Amino acid sequence: AFAAQPGRTGLAFDPIAPVNRLVDDFTVPAGYRWQPIIRWGDPLFSAVPALDFEHQSAEAQAGQFGYNSDYLDIIADPSGKTAVLVNNHEYVNPNIMFPATTDAAERRRRGDIYKAAQGMSVVELRRRKVGEPWSYVVDGRRNRRVTVETVFELTGPAAGSDLVKTAADPEGRWVKGTLGNCAGGTTPWGTVLSGEENFNGYFAWAADTAAQKRYGSTATTSTENGWEAYDPRFDAHDPSFVNEPNRFGYIVEIDPEDPTSTPVKHTAMGRFKHEGANVIIAEDGRVVAYMGDDERNDYLYKFVSKNRFTGNGKGRGKGRRRDDMRLLSEGDLYVARFTGDSPAGEITGAGGLPGDGAFDGVGQWIPLTSNGVSVVPGMSTEEVLVYTRLAADRVGATKMDRPEDVEPSPVTGKVYVALTNNSNRGGASAPVDEANPISGNRYGHVIELTETSGQAGTSFGWSILLLCGDPSTTAPTYFAGFPKELVSPISCPDNVAFDSEGNLWISTDGAPGTIGYNDGLFKVPLDGEQRGNVQQFLAVPREAETCGPVIHDREGLVFVAVQHPGENGAVGDQHSYFPDYVPRHGGGDAAAPRPSVVQVFRA
Ligand code: FEO
Ligand code: CA
Ligand code: CA
Ligand code: CA
Repeated sequence: AFAAQPGRTGLAFDPIAPVNRLVDDFTVPAGYRWQPIIRWGDPLFSAVPALDFEHQSAEAQAGQFGYNSDYLDIIADPSGKTAVLVNNHEYVNPNIMFPATTDAAERRRRGDIYKAAQGMSVVELRRRKVGEPWSYVVDGRRNRRVTVETVFELTGPAAGSDLVKTAADPEGRWVKGTLGNCAGGTTPWGTVLSGEENFNGYFAWAADTAAQKRYGSTATTSTENGWEAYDPRFDAHDPSFVNEPNRFGYIVEIDPEDPTSTPVKHTAMGRFKHEGANVIIAEDGRVVAYMGDDERNDYLYKFVSKNRFTGNGKGRGKGRRRDDMRLLSEGDLYVARFTGDSPAGEITGAGGLPGDGAFDGVGQWIPLTSNGVSVVPGMSTEEVLVYTRLAADRVGATKMDRPEDVEPSPVTGKVYVALTNNSNRGGASAPVDEANPISGNRYGHVIELTETSGQAGTSFGWSILLLCGDPSTTAPTYFAGFPKELVSPISCPDNVAFDSEGNLWISTDGAPGTIGYNDGLFKVPLDGEQRGNVQQFLAVPREAETCGPVIHDREGLVFVAVQHPGENGAVGDQHSYFPDYVPRHGGGDAAAPRPSVVQVFRA
């Protein structure tokens, strides 16, 4: 039995029991129902066909909703009856999208489908009454697909530098496409940020420089998607395109209100495997963005804008939007150093709290630039912004357990850092420390960070909020002091969000392989007696990851993106029929699940 917490707004629920990893259902609490808003392959325009697994084309896919949904927001218009949905499509699962093939021509044809299935979607929604679930609008005015062929403008100090020039873009300012769009954030001026995360896997790299290796290059001549065979920009062996990988790994900003606008990539926010970025307005009006580099033993970053937000920080359209859309192009980049306050001998990595009763301490934001100029010895500003990992290596940043989503609470300004796991923690290159105290960290943890010299300042305090796991079978676990026997088991925190009361919501990626349950969405109160009471709200089908949670608690609505259902593709126990639960590919029991955005509402 799990402890229920009465909600003060519209989202009271009794936590669900954890769901076995073989279950292919989407599971919600008693009294709630679910339905997809939009699925992979649903047409955004009336001239575009519905998904046909046997006859899919790149042209159709470029007008259909993309694959593997991750970051999600649903931004309602003032009427409450229309909205715009923005969603990242992180990558594709070729092994389960279409029937197997060994034909070379078909493989190339599919490569173009994969290009069109990634990127982002912007889709209008509508409903008859405020508070009801949403439907998507075919031919909505704002409907748009962003793909691997969409042109982006580079902004900031590294735009136009030699490090980002190619034969196709001698100016170094115009990049075709976005890759690995994982988590993100919606800005106070109504644009959406998207993190380019695992871009390295799309390139056949030369892999001969330390910088390339630091970004995950491997000396391959072929990639899974196969684009390098016919599109030279994905072949970094080609001297004309050696810099192409330097044009990915940024924070992207898109204006969902204007489907004709050119989206941008912000070099001022650094280049790494950006999980996402979340923005808050500092006391003096400057904009602060928090960002994770999702790699084992990589870093936590913060960007502070040079200029001030023109609005009041409480809503969209209240300032000079065009000015606000340039805020992330100019400013300074910082990386985090965590210092524990317990004797090193007490951080055993084997469990139990240190002598002072908490994994906690203080920290510093170490500048990589100041007044927009590099302060890293031996590196130019352009090098700091394009090879940001190398810059952070030089200044003594703290190696973290894979920083995923990082988001400030809109209620308290405290920052929550999801550290999903780290099999390499505890080795010689990354011994346990008080901020990453678990050797081989399998289940992940969440850090609560409190700025102590203002939101834009350089000092902070921190403590571990959660050490994840199943308290009945794994040790150690910690839930901010809340009784362990009362919480829902949780593993591998990934995305975070807040409801209107300031409760933290966490979605997970990796629970099936660690605690044996399907991934899900969890509510965690942050204050009062309920602080640390992890309560599971939903579970996604087998082999899926839960992404992009959006909590409209006042309306009793919760939205998630269901990413990579049935990803292993094995027939039998492991495949998924989500969300329609009908066989595909011409009968039999062959499955082709469709990643989707789902809404949960009261029955
Ligand atoms: Fe794409 Fe770090 O998750
Ligand atoms: Ca301590
Ligand atoms: Ca993620
Ligand atoms: Ca993840």
